Amino acid sequence: SPLPSFDLVIFGGSGDLALRKLLPALFHRYRDGQIVDGTRIVGVARDDRSDADYREQVRAALAASMQQDDADNSGGAALAGFLQLLSYQHLDLAGDTGWEEFAQAMRRARRVRVFYLAVAPDLFAQAANRLAAWDLVDADTRVVVEKPIGTDSASADAINDALGRVFAERQIFRIDHYLGKETVQNLTALRFGNALFEPLWRAQHIDHVQITVGETIGVEGRAPYYDRAGALRDMVQNHLLQLLCLVAMEPPTSLDADAIRDEKLKVLRALRPIDAGNAAQLVVRGQYRDGAAEGRAVRGYAEELGRSSRTETFVALKAEVRSWRWAGVPFYLRTGKRLPARVSEIVVTFRPVPHSIFEGVSELAPNRLVLRLQPDESVTMWLMNKVPGPGGLRLRHVPMDLSFAETFGGRQADAYERLLMDVVRGNPMLFMRRDEVEAAWKWIDPIRAAWEVGNDAPKPYTAGTWGPSAAVALIERDGRTWHEDA
Ligand code: BG6
Repeated sequence: SPLPSFDLVIFGGSGDLALRKLLPALFHRYRDGQIVDGTRIVGVARDDRSDADYREQVRAALAASMQQDDADNSGGAALAGFLQLLSYQHLDLAGDTGWEEFAQAMRRARRVRVFYLAVAPDLFAQAANRLAAWDLVDADTRVVVEKPIGTDSASADAINDALGRVFAERQIFRIDHYLGKETVQNLTALRFGNALFEPLWRAQHIDHVQITVGETIGVEGRAPYYDRAGALRDMVQNHLLQLLCLVAMEPPTSLDADAIRDEKLKVLRALRPIDAGNAAQLVVRGQYRDGAAEGRAVRGYAEELGRSSRTETFVALKAEVRSWRWAGVPFYLRTGKRLPARVSEIVVTFRPVPHSIFEGVSELAPNRLVLRLQPDESVTMWLMNKVPGPGGLRLRHVPMDLSFAETFGGRQADAYERLLMDVVRGNPMLFMRRDEVEAAWKWIDPIRAAWEVGNDAPKPYTAGTWGPSAAVALIERDGRTWHEDA
């Protein structure tokens, strides 16, 4: 349903995130009628340019993003209308350039106002202060910040403090775009909309959980950021831990934002600490070398960077949630750049049957529930089935598939579409609360500290493989294997 017109200001309006994700997402919401004419979308950046130039840049970015999405290349009248919502504002976060004019334009309308800080986190505090100084923050104002929120607990605290001096917690939307992905939301629907899963969703019936987020891309143009972050901070601290929380959390009493976030927080706080004492057994870090990815030869990370580096482009680790529900159940997490496939999935492996009556007939593979986030969103339940035919009893592990595309049809909305509209509506359910971010850093910091103490360098892996062999050993040591679709 259409939202009342609002103002959305994107700091970093001509940056990569804005052009590749935010503006295409807004365009789709406009085309579907959810964003109405009269809404204002303002791109803010440091260079001086006209509205017309900016619209042209956005038009080109939309064309590029829609080309990849073949089901969906009708720009047409909607495109013209959308571009009319856009304007550009030259603003200097350090100086006064542009602010007077910008503040006046903003004050012309009293309505929901969203400031999206798609800029480096060291600018968050300054941006917030300037907005307050120009009196642009009222009860209907919201601010959106992207990860990384800092580089460790201390820097995250400083950022959160600075934001907290200008905005109330309910006005701060810390985005983790994985929470906007369809399959991730569907995980909550599956767990709590069906009676089937919940009784089994515990240590007595679940053997282990795997969460894989594999990417084929390298660091692309992001080396200056990425080399300071690394996979642990870029992916595990936020996306993978959030997925783990949604798998492991206790049933919230309602869909209330705090009810859900309270439960996620408990999971983060229950994670068994990993530190210098056990990091070597529980965490594997890797860095890609020359190899092949996306069907061509690619250079190693250090070559791409132009110098050697100890930054990890791959992490695999074994986590444990210390609670009645999960005691003893390993959660194996892995993520990396330049892996063989762009695959993100959550795999829940159930325990084997207690007694096999099929002895000598077939080996029974355990049931697996596979929630695939990417590339094609789907839910698959692996079951043992009889192979049809009169030739006696043979069993096979077969997938029972629920492909979203087939079942529901139509275009799959990008995570940012849902999340941006939630910000405008003021619904923080799919955003991270301050204490969650803090708890996640508190768990991550000692892992990094352990690497430093151990003077530990990432293990090499060939681009286009599933990480260093130690990542395979990490799970095989426990008599288990990483899931691969048959
Ligand atoms: C971002 C990371 O948060 O997520 C990137 O900074 C990563 O390094 C990206 O490529 C992955 O997102 P998605 O939606 O493509 O899986």
